Amino acid sequence: TPQRMKKVCCIGAGYVGGPTSAVMATKNPDVSVTVVDYNKDRIEAWKTNELPIYEPDLLDVVQHARDPVAKRIPNLFFSTDVEGAIAEADIILLSVNTPTKSMGHGAGQASELCHLESAVRRIGEVATSDKIIVEKSTVPCKAAETVRDILNATAKPGLNFEILSNPEFLAEGTAVRNLLHPDRILIGSLNTPRGLAAARSLADLYASWVDRSRIITINLYSSELAKLAANALLAQRISSVNALSAMCESLGADIDEVSHCVGLDQRIGPKMLKASVGFGGSCFRKDILSLAYIAESLHLPQVADYWRSIVGINEYQKERFTRRIVKCLYSSLSSKRLAVLGFAYKKDTGDTRETSAITVVNNLINEGANVRVYDPLVEEDRVWEEVLASSDRRETVKQRLSVWPSAYEACADADAVIILTEWDEFSNKISGPGDARGRGGDRTKRVLDWSRVAGLMQKPMYVFDGRNVLDAAPLEKMGFRVESIGKGV
Ligand code: NAD
Ligand code: UGA
Repeated sequence: TPQRMKKVCCIGAGYVGGPTSAVMATKNPDVSVTVVDYNKDRIEAWKTNELPIYEPDLLDVVQHARDPVAKRIPNLFFSTDVEGAIAEADIILLSVNTPTKSMGHGAGQASELCHLESAVRRIGEVATSDKIIVEKSTVPCKAAETVRDILNATAKPGLNFEILSNPEFLAEGTAVRNLLHPDRILIGSLNTPRGLAAARSLADLYASWVDRSRIITINLYSSELAKLAANALLAQRISSVNALSAMCESLGADIDEVSHCVGLDQRIGPKMLKASVGFGGSCFRKDILSLAYIAESLHLPQVADYWRSIVGINEYQKERFTRRIVKCLYSSLSSKRLAVLGFAYKKDTGDTRETSAITVVNNLINEGANVRVYDPLVEEDRVWEEVLASSDRRETVKQRLSVWPSAYEACADADAVIILTEWDEFSNKISGPGDARGRGGDRTKRVLDWSRVAGLMQKPMYVFDGRNVLDAAPLEKMGFRVESIGKGV
């Protein structure tokens, strides 16, 4: 029979572990949720009001469960005492990072499970009671068998561990909304009485705020594969649209119109069809490469090639965008000043992992340009770290890259403005009450004054809109030459 879980431990205080635990604690006031991480700085930040990650509305949810308020006893804790939290827990959520392997067999393709392995070993060493172990991290298929094998080898005899797969589908920038109103919760388990009881116990935690009809209990391995499949299909839509955007530019068609019309078909739907300079983020690329690697290890090379082509188109899109900039600017960027607006991989996040901006900025620098970056949320140090880490010309980067605290400073004397993130404040389609004064303050109230930008730039004034956030007509009236993705003339 399923037991009510009273103590949850979440290992990994990142983009998934932090928000998921905060929502679970808020919605289950009788359950104590402890988030642990060996990264002391991250844990300390989670205890303050300067959280280590930015997500709209996240601070409210965290404060609600973490800080004592009238009649509510805090039930959300952050700690570096990994062993202590494991020992006390009934159920452990594994939310550690699973990046692409950087060395050895499968380097550049397979998922690196060393963090997961080390967390599971710790559980084996420390546990003195039965536990449910939940894979929240995105893992290759059959990772649950690895987890079981490590526990069998390391844990004290007589203890029972049930392993569940419960992948996370939140997207950054909308994490709280996605967690509060999920399309579905997947819980994969073994089809044994104990496995099903464990799945039921986890389902009960979610049922505090998610309708039971949306909580799907399935086979363990289907659940692991469904997560990789979902990301691969989402990314496939973007690459398909980006491939079409290249055709639109030559044909005189408009990709936004094409996407809109295609998306009206209810079987296709309107989401994830926005053409862009290429998708970024820590997961799409890594999960597709992982899926392709699994296909290859199953001796299915054609299947592996199919999935890899999605990443191939994404790389092509970034290169194509750079080439267009070079071509428009008279085939040379030597000593030109280019303002890059936006560095995060999408709006409403400060995350820069795998952002297309890394490739584009490096390409522009390699073409001889001086690149002046502004992003409303990304810290200056992050921009430097990301660009330097992926450059083999570090000294050149140091001479040609600069990061500015406002869009206007970045645009001063610029030959072109290049939009790489769809921040609302760059768009002239969204009217807002304020003016973009730079970082800080209320971001939602800021709008870039494009006429002021016009007064700052060199002539001719090019704008390369890598996110199609601009309505070109009013800008063209101001004298801008607007180059959008997938819009032929
Ligand atoms: P992250 O890097 O932000 O956080 C992972 C945390 O785990 C880090 O703080 C790290 O210090 C900690 N950690 C690693 N090994 C540990 C150990 N042995 N003990 C204690 N702490 C340890 O990663 P993330 O973005 O939260 O992603 C976590 C997983 O969730 C990945 O598998 C990812 O694919 C998946 N996922 C991420 C998202 C997303 O939007 N970021 C969405 C869905 C799924
Ligand atoms: C994605 C998935 O959407 C989540 O469901 C999943 O849980 C998560 O990966 C994960 O496994 O980590 P995320 O990467 O945070 O979430 O954000 P998305 O909104 O999917 O955007 C990914 C990238 O694609 C961004 O660079 C975005 O700008 C780009 N994108 C998105 C497009 O270029 N066009 C679109 O139509 C949508």
